[in-house]
Amino acid sequence: MPVPTTRTNESAHIFLNQQKCNDCGLCVEVCKDFTLIMQDGKVKISKTPLFGCIGCGQCAAICPHEAISIAGRTLHSGDFVELPPKNMRASYASLYDLLLSRRSIRDFRDEEIPQNLVGMILDAAVTAPMGIPPSDVGVIVFKGKERVREFSFDFISGLSKMKKIFSKPMLTLMRPFMSKADYEVSKSFLVPLINFFDKTKKEDKNYLLYDAPVAMYFYNSGYCDPCDPYIPAVYAMIAAHSLGLGCCMIGSIAPFLKRMKKLKSKYSIPPDSKDGIFLIFGYPKYKYHKAIKRSFAKVRYVSCN
Ligand SMILES: Cc1cc2nc3c(=O)[nH]c(=O)nc-3n(C[C@H](O)[C@H](O)[C@H](O)COP(=O)(O)O)c2cc1C
Repeated sequence: MPVPTTRTNESAHIFLNQQKCNDCGLCVEVCKDFTLIMQDGKVKISKTPLFGCIGCGQCAAICPHEAISIAGRTLHSGDFVELPPKNMRASYASLYDLLLSRRSIRDFRDEEIPQNLVGMILDAAVTAPMGIPPSDVGVIVFKGKERVREFSFDFISGLSKMKKIFSKPMLTLMRPFMSKADYEVSKSFLVPLINFFDKTKKEDKNYLLYDAPVAMYFYNSGYCDPCDPYIPAVYAMIAAHSLGLGCCMIGSIAPFLKRMKKLKSKYSIPPDSKDGIFLIFGYPKYKYHKAIKRSFAKVRYVSCN
């Protein structure tokens, strides 16, 4: 049965060009849906795949003879492009330097970001893996400081209306039904944050999206993996840094959005989208002189020896 997303509910179709195919079987090796199988030494299309071709494209991408084409689930032949030359790819050292030098940027010069750079960020982000193709991630691009500010203040107004739910007496009442971590984060982070946004909005200050010239919201559908929006968002952040732009993730919006139907509708955020993350972009106002080395909470190897 085909795996549905909001974009398709059909399987993709694989076409084998028997004249070009030499039955090397590479496509069969990489197809984990078992749509492609080996039968009597020949590559065949199975009548009993696991789900039905999800259109991952791996078979056509790995075929050295261009013997495979795929259509459906948004894929078409033009999607298979030449690989960039190996010497154009970032080495580990240059990638590591790029990653190490990135900082979350919240202070921006009052300067617009040209549309071609916005496009380049999206081009990089869309290369990210997704749970099931085609990606069910949507992106809303807020262009211009005024639009970003309008959204920020609309959101803070919505948040202020929820203040009671996150008030200290309410949290005390709800304590027996909350995990220790949820209670502590709500008390020490959410409650002061909501009060802070409320207070600073009255002073006409935007500490939510920091008056960035561009903001993006990466969100998922009800169908896709909950992690799906975060992965292209990380790619977008790294791409922005490579372009000399600053970026910061803003996680404090999405958890509250599900209670804000009107706001979602005003900004064309689908009502059934569940998870998501905001990113802000702009030209950094300040220069950092040091990188910061970080540590994970825990790294544990589980190995045979
Ligand atoms: C999932 C996520 C959510 C975040 N949410 C916010 C936020 O709401 N507001 C903010 O100012 N920074 C936010 N940040 C930025 C972090 O505070 C920042 O990454 C952290 O302080 C480390 O700084 P660095 O990115 O410069 O290493 C978020 C980062 C992540 C990864």
